[in-house]
Amino acid sequence: MSEKVKLSYKGKDFEFPLVEGSENEKGIDIKSLRSQTGLITYDPGYKNTGSCKSDITFLDGEEGILRYRGYSIEDLCEKASFIEVAFLLIFGDMPSKKELNYFNNEIRKDSLVDEDLKSILKSFPKSAHPMGVLSSLTSGLIAFNPSSVDIESEDDVREAIIMLIAKFPILASWTHRKVKGLPLNYANTSLSYVQNIAHMMFKLPHQDYEPSSVVVNALNKLLILHADHEQNCSTSTVRIVGSSHAGLFASVSAGISALWGPLHGGANQAVIEMLESIKHDGGDTKKYMEKAKDKNDPFRLMGFGHRVYKNFDPRARIIKKAADEVLDELGIDDPVLNIAKALEKEALCDPYFIERKLYPNVDFYSGIIYRALGIPTEMFTVMFALGRLPGWIAQWSEMRKNNEPIGRPRQIYSGSNHRPV
Ligand code: ACO
Repeated sequence: MSEKVKLSYKGKDFEFPLVEGSENEKGIDIKSLRSQTGLITYDPGYKNTGSCKSDITFLDGEEGILRYRGYSIEDLCEKASFIEVAFLLIFGDMPSKKELNYFNNEIRKDSLVDEDLKSILKSFPKSAHPMGVLSSLTSGLIAFNPSSVDIESEDDVREAIIMLIAKFPILASWTHRKVKGLPLNYANTSLSYVQNIAHMMFKLPHQDYEPSSVVVNALNKLLILHADHEQNCSTSTVRIVGSSHAGLFASVSAGISALWGPLHGGANQAVIEMLESIKHDGGDTKKYMEKAKDKNDPFRLMGFGHRVYKNFDPRARIIKKAADEVLDELGIDDPVLNIAKALEKEALCDPYFIERKLYPNVDFYSGIIYRALGIPTEMFTVMFALGRLPGWIAQWSEMRKNNEPIGRPRQIYSGSNHRPV
């Protein structure tokens, strides 16, 4: 007999079944809670709430495990390209050579956007935050590609997915080029997906550009490491928006807005801003270590600690190596990056950080790489979005295929009781 959980309320016992995942994660299935007991659950931030069953990503924060469709990120970062990982997340398996070629060709064919989209971009001030611009342009794609997606049609869904994967790097690079005052460019279809991202962002109009293999390799890893992280804030946003049967582009546009916040994707920007302010204050890292440990001081060492990973962030281990390689290859001597190295060294042997298991997280090193590559700080979260796109698409598709009901939480009302006007 399957296991049940008992709940007693007002002298009555109620039973609820357990749901168990493929990695033995257990949850209480409370679908019938309200109809049986008249009660709802109260769980701000959904810290104890499973919103769905998902086959896509497995994460174990205690053990520092992150796997996409069963493959460890360590293995994927070593052996796969970002576009193979995108295929894996979205379609469920690693592509064969033939499938990969076909997928790449479909993407290349669609690597264009309507020229009129440029007028939307033009209407933003240069000072607009790239994440706001990216979200608007992604939404703008709907107007230029209005045909609705029949979720029952594999061809329709695939077409929408390919369109978004192909066009998104163009939109992302345009937000960068606008900030930099550079002419807008298009993909070079002889390049790989990741080489193309570097090409579209960094190619200057008066110079040839060939991205170094170390830079492409680091970008490839960064994008893979950000590609999915199960039901985080932006992914849950994409799923909940899509649950109203809003289209893929609209759902992803909402996900971009969710990712923008400093408590989510915006943390990589906060790391560099912190390092810069330490530099402007004389570069005394010891002073900031003391501030971080002082309970009367709100200062925290940005890029350290993680809500889910309590022993180490497996993504940070991989990306630290890539960051060292990029800094070596580019021969960069940047005082801000030297401050980062000093902080890292001090924190890793400081009892306060050791006892609380506060290790550098993925954002600490990703910010360092982006800065070394010359990407403006406010573009960091756009880079995150480029990586997260396949995850959002995979989660949106899974939610629609499973025919999940519209997301509509309840509340405990705590306002005024009825009163006359
Ligand atoms: N600097 C100094 N002290 C810290 C830090 C830090 N970065 N992070 C946690 N602590 C301390 C807390 O003060 C607390 O100390 P106490 O036990 O003496 O009270 C203890 O460590 C536990 O901290 P919590 O806040 O309870 O840990 P939580 O899991 O809630 O927070 C979080 C995790 C938000 C990531 C936190 O570590 C933090 O603010 N880090 C800096 C911001 C950051 O880098 N965010 C990016 C996360 S990665 C990502 O989103 C992709």
